[in-house]
Amino acid sequence: MSSISNPSPQPGKIAPGQPLHCVAPARVNLLGEHTDYTGGLVLPMAIPFTTHAIISSRPDNLYSFTSELFPDTLALDRDDRSPSRSIWADYPVGVLRQLQLRGIAPPAFDLHLSGNVPFGAGLSSSASVEVATAMALLAFTGASLSIEDIALLSQRAENNYVHSPCGIMDQFVITAAKAGHALLLNTRDLTYEHLPMNKGALAETQIVVCNSMVKHSVATGEYRVRRRELEEGQAVLRSTFPNVRDLGDASLDQLNQCQHQMSHEAFIRCRHVVTENARVRSARESMFSGDPTSLGQLMLQAHISYRDDFAASCEEVDFLVDTAINLPGCFGARLTGGGFGGCTVNLVERNHSEAFATALKAAYQQHLNIAAETYLCDAVDGAWLRNAPLPSTRAPQERA
Ligand code: GLA
Repeated sequence: MSSISNPSPQPGKIAPGQPLHCVAPARVNLLGEHTDYTGGLVLPMAIPFTTHAIISSRPDNLYSFTSELFPDTLALDRDDRSPSRSIWADYPVGVLRQLQLRGIAPPAFDLHLSGNVPFGAGLSSSASVEVATAMALLAFTGASLSIEDIALLSQRAENNYVHSPCGIMDQFVITAAKAGHALLLNTRDLTYEHLPMNKGALAETQIVVCNSMVKHSVATGEYRVRRRELEEGQAVLRSTFPNVRDLGDASLDQLNQCQHQMSHEAFIRCRHVVTENARVRSARESMFSGDPTSLGQLMLQAHISYRDDFAASCEEVDFLVDTAINLPGCFGARLTGGGFGGCTVNLVERNHSEAFATALKAAYQQHLNIAAETYLCDAVDGAWLRNAPLPSTRAPQERA
């Protein structure tokens, strides 16, 4: 895996006084769920939904936060250090706080956020806002940080200011993604590798994301409960096997040996994570050999593990997965993201993807009377700075 070297983008040719514009994508995770806070592997890619952060200077001593998506605005004195308010602006303010903790003090600004990443769909609208804000504030201040630092400070903004217990996957891929590639990230040491999605028969596939419209939130109870259960199992493994630093190191055999020293829930949650890390490793091989059949099988196995061992699925999502895998051209399907609703990710032969999306939505509507949305996605680059007029915020190839 390569290590981090790319610095954050520089203001470049942007004229003084001109607003700065940063664009951040959303993400979908192909494989590796709830592995990113126990030293495991994840395999997400960036998708072409966007958050736009536009920042310009103001003549007073205030930081102002506005959004076309929310009516309320917030203005803070530059020396304000108040805690979060349970409003949308907590996300950009949390990023500002993290920069301030590093001694980075932006001049007074107006920050305006807009975009089209669906909320509560498990496509990382929060991380997209955090990374767009971080890169805009850095460029505005003339400061530069590594990809690793931008991702970590965005995650800390969410953990410490918004009080949402997420891992590092979302912020990292939104910062470091490369078009045409998925990103294999080792969440223990943050080494990563861009895996091409155009090898062999994989070049003839497309990712179809299907929004179940069942809302998901990392801040709610179940995500925290799963984290606690994994930490219980991990602590037992560590004390039994001194070489095991975290679940990322543990084998299934080691876990089985510890089964009776932990609760049944902790055991099966850990079994999901240990087998999930193995599936991500196998997925790397499938991608390099351009084999959508084996990649699709891994996705399906991942769904079964996420549903049965991790208990993170729901009836609506299971229906979508069961239906998808019986449609023509579908290699694999699974629930993606934090769980308990949100989106499925489907690996589909490209020349079937539109018909696949139509059939999946029709079946969902007919059986559950819910209008799903589907998005046909190719992998895009991570966040970037642009100094151009605001582009359309229409969703990617939306088939609502
Ligand atoms: C959410 C979190 C991520 C990760 C996933 C589950 O998206 O933000 O850090 O834990 O859930 O894989």
